[in-house]
Amino acid sequence: MTLLSCKKLTKKFGDLTLFEDLDLEIHPSESVAIVGRSGEGKSTLLHLLGLLDTPNSGEIELLGKKATYQNHSLRNKHLGFIFQQFHLLEDYTVLENVLMPAAIARESTKAGSPYHTRALQLLEKVGLKDRQTQSAKLLSGGEKQRVAIARAFLMNPDLILADEPSGNLDKANADSIHQLLLDFARSENKACIIVTHDPQLAKLCAKQFQLSDKKLVPLN
Ligand SMILES: Nc1ncnc2c1ncn2[C@@H]1O[C@H](COP(=O)(O)OP(=O)(O)O)[C@@H](O)[C@H]1O
Ligand SMILES: [Mg+2]
Repeated sequence: MTLLSCKKLTKKFGDLTLFEDLDLEIHPSESVAIVGRSGEGKSTLLHLLGLLDTPNSGEIELLGKKATYQNHSLRNKHLGFIFQQFHLLEDYTVLENVLMPAAIARESTKAGSPYHTRALQLLEKVGLKDRQTQSAKLLSGGEKQRVAIARAFLMNPDLILADEPSGNLDKANADSIHQLLLDFARSENKACIIVTHDPQLAKLCAKQFQLSDKKLVPLN
């Protein structure tokens, strides 16, 4: 089974070609690291794979079915995304932000509901349970990043796409987030793709690629 695949993916912004005819397959229990210089197009690639943007050409398949950025419910159910810039809703609380994917899916988020319970467990895992009622705008960068990570796990997606998930974290917090992502990827029928600048984290992933010269070059 293939969780996510892209075939002949090409993305351009005007005259700038970020990648051309790019192929990638992600299988269950796989962790994939993507490294590369700043500006090579790593975030753009992750957005395409996460059905958040459209390629100029090429196809993306999610769980064996062709998928596009219009497939909102597919994305909501199967993909978790950790944005490089977090993209929290600043006027909402920490807990409300973590619960947002469930609210979008029109699931109950009331106290005692399964998603509410899960959100609190996730906040505990990222060390922010005691901040649940605080407004997201009052958090530090590293705290926002950890809320974004809890949010990506909420719907128990099949695949988590993480864009420099520990870029703003101290070593202890980074290590615990890496463990969370890698443990998740090892579980049955789950996987993660991690864009990272951290060579140590890249080495912990089962597959490593470098995005350079418009292609994904295998590093192992
Ligand atoms: N919406 C956009 N319009 C035009 N150019 C963009 C857009 N998004 C990204 N770019 C450009 O594409 C290049 C790759 O960006 P990005 O994917 O963020 O790279 P990376 O994550 O590898 O640093 C950069 O030069 C950036 O300025
Ligand atoms: Mg980036």
